[in-house]
Amino acid sequence: MNQNLVKDKIVIIDFGSQVTKLIARRVREYSVFTEILTLKDLKKNNVFKNAKGIILSGGPSTVTKNLFPKIPKEVFDLNIPILGICYGLQLIAKHFKGKVKPNTKKREFGRAILFKSKNSLLTKGFFNKSKCAVWMSHQDSVYKIPNGFLKIASTNESAMTIIENRKKNIYGIQFHPEVTHTENGNIIFKNFIFDICKAKKQWKLESEKTRIINEIKNTVKKAKVICALSGGVDSSVVALLIHKAIGKNLKCIMVDTGLMRKDEFKSTYQIFTNKYKLNVKIIDASKIYFRKLKNIIDPEKKRKIIGNLFIKIFETEAKTFKDVKFLAQGTLYPDIIESRSATGSKTSKIKSHHNVGGLPKKMNLKLIEPLKELFKDEVRELGDAIGLVKNISRKHPFPGPGLAIRIVGSITPKKVKILQEADYIFIQQLIKNNLYDKIWQAYAALLPVKTVGVMGDSRTYEYICLIRAIVSEDGMTADYFSFPKTFLDEISSKIINGVKGINRVVYDITSKPPSTIELE
Ligand code: XMP
Repeated sequence: MNQNLVKDKIVIIDFGSQVTKLIARRVREYSVFTEILTLKDLKKNNVFKNAKGIILSGGPSTVTKNLFPKIPKEVFDLNIPILGICYGLQLIAKHFKGKVKPNTKKREFGRAILFKSKNSLLTKGFFNKSKCAVWMSHQDSVYKIPNGFLKIASTNESAMTIIENRKKNIYGIQFHPEVTHTENGNIIFKNFIFDICKAKKQWKLESEKTRIINEIKNTVKKAKVICALSGGVDSSVVALLIHKAIGKNLKCIMVDTGLMRKDEFKSTYQIFTNKYKLNVKIIDASKIYFRKLKNIIDPEKKRKIIGNLFIKIFETEAKTFKDVKFLAQGTLYPDIIESRSATGSKTSKIKSHHNVGGLPKKMNLKLIEPLKELFKDEVRELGDAIGLVKNISRKHPFPGPGLAIRIVGSITPKKVKILQEADYIFIQQLIKNNLYDKIWQAYAALLPVKTVGVMGDSRTYEYICLIRAIVSEDGMTADYFSFPKTFLDEISSKIINGVKGINRVVYDITSKPPSTIELE
């Protein structure tokens, strides 16, 4: 039996907040399965089957207008506990005849101090002596308490920051317990899922592993599967899982674009063929990539060229395999959430991310996406559970277009070589200093500017190397990592002394937003 159908879950209804995914993660950290649904999904049958609780997320809309996104009113009568966060709270207040209005004088944004008024099951163990620092991001506030509700806590700016209707098991909070800036935010989730919803801990990666492998076996049967292997965490876990399920019927293709990190392509190939005995075909396409990218400066053009070329090469190669019916992809849960809109509005495209999305339609293949319910850190853990070597399961994310989007301006094999060397030194130093695992993503980039330097008694005129290291939870937002000065000194001198072609090293100290993680 598919365990997916029987395990307790918490349903999160997404109203478009940037941090909805974090709600799902917080709940899963307590080993309870979560599913994020859009309003459109609610029209399907049985969406609340096995739901022990419902969380209404935040979002950019306002209930103070005539039209606003809402859940069908029957959801409030399902007898399933509900927790509304930010917009979710305002929706609850509106539904139960409370009053909400925009605070025209001041938005409450950032840190706020919350004061306790009453005890509640939701806040057991949450306050430190009746106070707590929480993270707010709202303009609208509930100013008249809805019928049947009690006030549990408030801040100076908003009176109804936490409200509850104990009898109906409906709770609302104005702040965001899912972000780490809220002190003890996880306790709110713990109380909600266990004390209020009585959900059981049934989400374990160990049992997921068996479920996923069995599901692959049942879906694929005796057919053949192809998979693009890059050596990143996602494609490596996908390849290993499928190999465990169907053995030699999996064929992996590795396309060498010439834009990978130093030695990475070779070492990935060796690990997968020698250690795991996978069937891997390697294609050296670096010459075509360099030819097509010659003199291309525009980042979007680079991305399109790389993406389209990848699809063409992969498609040609795949045709040489007989009886292939499936294409395996490392789609993750956040990819699925991000590719659909919560409320029907379109967000503006910042960058076109390279993936092999065009392939299945073109090639008439069915998709298998074994990781589509998992977050990145869950994939890493799953990798560990199936014996993936740690230096792959702990690897930082690496973008599909590779070093092409880390060399600002035109790309040449010489620049790639210079960058590979600098990047290698940087990453090795991070590992040596036990910093690699503390950082979400780190890399070196090459800026298309030459500046003057002096080495020995000679003048130099070389490129600038930019180093970037960020901490993040999901890549959507990021802060730069604070290195000790000694580490920065060491990196600068090792790169300049070790790499011919670079005479200046700069550290990128921008967060995301306003900048992005990659340079292009
Ligand atoms: P940005 O630069 O958009 O990056 O802040 C966020 C995360 O996405 C990665 N990234 C990509 N990954 N194909 C990928 O597979 C791409 O085209 C791509 N562009 C950016 C980036 O490395 C970071 O982890």
